Amino acid sequence: MRDNTSQKKTNANKLDAVIEVTGQTIYRARIFNPVSRSEFEDIEDGAIEVDEKGKISKIAKFSEFKDKKAKIIDYRGKIIMPGLIDCHVHLPQYDMVAMDGYELLNWLNEYTFPAERRFESPKLAKDAASRFFHALKANGTTTAAVYNTVHKNATDIAFEEAEKSGLRVFMGKVMMDQNSPDFLQEKTEESLLESEELCKKWHGRDNGRINYAFTPRFAPTCSEKLMEGVADLAKKYNAYIQTHLSENRSELSWVKELFPQSKNYTDVYYNAGILTQKTIMAHSIWVNPSELKLLAQTSTKVAHCASSNFFLKSGIFDLNSTLDAGVDVGLGSDVGGGPNLSLFREMSNACNMSKTRYIQENGSTKNLDSIGAFYLATKGGAKVLSLDKVIGDLTPGKEADFIVVDATLVDPQNGAKNKSGKEILSQLVYRADDRVVFAAYVRGKNIYSVLQNMKN
Ligand code: GUN
Ligand code: ZN
Repeated sequence: MRDNTSQKKTNANKLDAVIEVTGQTIYRARIFNPVSRSEFEDIEDGAIEVDEKGKISKIAKFSEFKDKKAKIIDYRGKIIMPGLIDCHVHLPQYDMVAMDGYELLNWLNEYTFPAERRFESPKLAKDAASRFFHALKANGTTTAAVYNTVHKNATDIAFEEAEKSGLRVFMGKVMMDQNSPDFLQEKTEESLLESEELCKKWHGRDNGRINYAFTPRFAPTCSEKLMEGVADLAKKYNAYIQTHLSENRSELSWVKELFPQSKNYTDVYYNAGILTQKTIMAHSIWVNPSELKLLAQTSTKVAHCASSNFFLKSGIFDLNSTLDAGVDVGLGSDVGGGPNLSLFREMSNACNMSKTRYIQENGSTKNLDSIGAFYLATKGGAKVLSLDKVIGDLTPGKEADFIVVDATLVDPQNGAKNKSGKEILSQLVYRADDRVVFAAYVRGKNIYSVLQNMKN
């Protein structure tokens, strides 16, 4: 494996300054633009034009821009693609990623809860949040749905850092009022009140770049009263809801014990009123067809977290059945259940998990390929966040959230041999990580570049 830093330095030297752009700008590069799970647009010498409001005004071959009197940023040799969307990630777990040895419930007790406890400290909360958002950008993630801890202050601090970062963020204070360690367990009313206060303060900030997501952790640690309160608040503020569903078999048995009157795990959330079109369920591995139907009927979204599902030995997600049921699916790193923030790694693991199903099903099904994974990490994620009219691809009229990547860094031939766009995308999906990310933009604003990173 090549040394990441030195490679990035070599490339960074090709640009002489961090790019500060105002006004209409044309970005010249190869363009990879997702269309569907089986198709993407590839414009070899292409460009996107971004207007002064940060919206894409044109995407075409560069030759079609030649008469324009706009500023041109030359990214030739690199690829522009939509910013990646992480539909499920835990900020406080970034410092404890990749701690192997447990399945979900023991892992929560051994690693997660003690790590989250440390967010009592505002100093630690600020430092961790600032490193986390920086790392998201360095990985090419421009939008993320983030869980914080139960601490109101730490969550408030994380929102401040999110606002500064320039990223598009959906986030909330974790809520848990039962079956939790005493150092994290909340009182129901307090949890609802603190969450409401954070929602009032942050939901919709910067014209909707920052959003509040009510975050009841998962059914075992949430009373019905708490979840019903979440349903009311999310409705009142038109805010998001995020939680975990049907991830691990021991978790499933526990939910059955705790909620004997519910038909199944999904039904617990349905009865509480938290299945909405702005609800994101992480995992949803062990759901039956009637649960999938319920998710589809309520337009509830699913964040598929393959890396985490492998790492915590949770199960093999059935992507085909979920999509066939009409449920929108995006990808989530689920750090620290997942060991890596990179959505490129997530794409490759989603493909491999789907191939595992293909093998189990004797080749009778269609597996996710790199084009499909690219779609899920971009347009799929935008749908999950109800933002598909705003971001997810590079269509004119959408906000200019995009990344610039150097695919030659994951090509053993260093770009010397001509590969098709499909082959380059395949190498990116299966081999890329933060090494390839050269710059990131949200609403046309440069929020990350390798050069800037080297100065820090
Ligand atoms: N279920 C409840 N809490 C968590 C968590 O922090 N991570 C994962 N992967 N699953 C959970
Ligand atoms: Zn999670």
